[in-house]
Amino acid sequence: MKTEFRADPLAQLSTPALVAYCFEDAPAAGGTVERLPAETRHLLQQLQTAGELTGKAFECTPLGWPAGMAVSKLLVVGAGKREKFSESHLRHLVGAAVRNLRVRGVREVAWTLGSMEPGAVAAVVEGALVADYDADRYRTERNGEKGIDTLLLATGGEALPAEAEAALRRGHLLGEAQNFTRELVNEPSNRMTPTKLAERAGEMAERFGLNCEVLGPQEIQDLNMGAFWAVAQGSQEPARLIILRYSPEDAPEQPVIGLIGKGITFDSGGISIKPSENMHEMKTDMAGGATMLGVMQAIAQLKPRVRVTALIPATENMPSGNAYKPGDVITSMSGKTIEILNTDAEGRLVLADALTYAKRLGCTVLIDAATLTGAVMIALGNFTTGVFGWNKEWVDRVLAAANLAGEKMWQLPVDDDYRELYKSAIADLANTGGRYGGAITGAMFIGEFAGDTPWVHLDIAGTRWANEEKPYRAKGPTGHGVRTLVQMLMDLSA
Ligand code: BES
Ligand code: MN
Ligand code: ZN
Repeated sequence: MKTEFRADPLAQLSTPALVAYCFEDAPAAGGTVERLPAETRHLLQQLQTAGELTGKAFECTPLGWPAGMAVSKLLVVGAGKREKFSESHLRHLVGAAVRNLRVRGVREVAWTLGSMEPGAVAAVVEGALVADYDADRYRTERNGEKGIDTLLLATGGEALPAEAEAALRRGHLLGEAQNFTRELVNEPSNRMTPTKLAERAGEMAERFGLNCEVLGPQEIQDLNMGAFWAVAQGSQEPARLIILRYSPEDAPEQPVIGLIGKGITFDSGGISIKPSENMHEMKTDMAGGATMLGVMQAIAQLKPRVRVTALIPATENMPSGNAYKPGDVITSMSGKTIEILNTDAEGRLVLADALTYAKRLGCTVLIDAATLTGAVMIALGNFTTGVFGWNKEWVDRVLAAANLAGEKMWQLPVDDDYRELYKSAIADLANTGGRYGGAITGAMFIGEFAGDTPWVHLDIAGTRWANEEKPYRAKGPTGHGVRTLVQMLMDLSA
């Protein structure tokens, strides 16, 4: 999608479709509808009187060849309550307009800017890009082909602040980063093997100037990553440890942020095999890894002054003659031994070794994102990511960033009492802690490998995928977490 500013007075702007929004309290007057020519507003007033224009959130009212304007179509989008208006809301409004118009054959959309503020400009561009994505790559008749080619930001002749161009670019790259993550998560496991994921990471790194290193099965074993390898050994697909580095020279030596993303390209459960119902959803079990790739793509362009290393342990979790088994005792890279009680608790194993290695590579703060537990979905549903960690300062940084980014995240506890639950009778740790508090014990198991290093865990099992379409976003992969982590890294650099 191309994005550009247009300075024409709104009445003279010649384009297939112009969008303006209005509020519930005065549909024909408030919002950006206010900026339209008097003749057009008169028309809207009549619609309001007829009860056809209410301003309710996401209501889309199309008007062909509106009086007083040069556009072929005016789309008025309801913005709901004025008091609730925010940048998040603005992203969604633009999104709703884009999704409404793209299926009606519109390829060029003009958005009436209400505010010339950089934040608003970025929100408009980002909202349009995120909305223009559909998870339909494998349909021969794609919705995506009906996508928007050009987004015009109509200023109505008003002067733009100097930062407007940069804001447009920021919104664009943030939207693209999320769509990149979504694209990866959507790929089925036959097309997104660990090898393929590493290739995609390498291409991205090359394009945006990041350093990329990929380790294979031999190196993983040579590094004594016994926990990662236990999961990987049962699969025909060779495992990969993907490492991306962003280290700008002008950044302080510390902190070095380690972003560790779970990269299970298919989770069958292994020998503790999952029920077949819904097993296909486990192609998304690399969403944590995909999230970190999206974040790296964004910061490679935004260039915050902070060092970041991303690590993605990528493998399938499969049953086979070589697979690890319940009852096995394995030795992790840290030296801690782990008794396997359930081979379906594989995420914490690959993350354990990735965290240990991240520390060895010099990371001083560890943040992991993982589709770790079904339990977090029971606790928080599909809309909210579970946040865990002992270190209040860093947990708070993530929560504050999530709040600014408009992503729902909620802290769940970690507490010594829960440690009892994943003790093993014969090894240092067991890889499951039972049904109760499953999201907590899963998180804490990972935390055992962070040791004294500040660590925050994001359980995105529920938020990785949207089961329902929204007016502003397709059903399917969400890219949830990308905005928050990018925001946090930008805040660190500010
Ligand atoms: N990848 C799953 C968690 C998951 C479930 C993600 C549903 C997305 C949707 C994870 O590897 C897993 O199987 N967890 C087990 C842990 C249990 C065996 C301790 C779970 O949550 O049931
Ligand atoms: Mn599993
Ligand atoms: Zn899993």
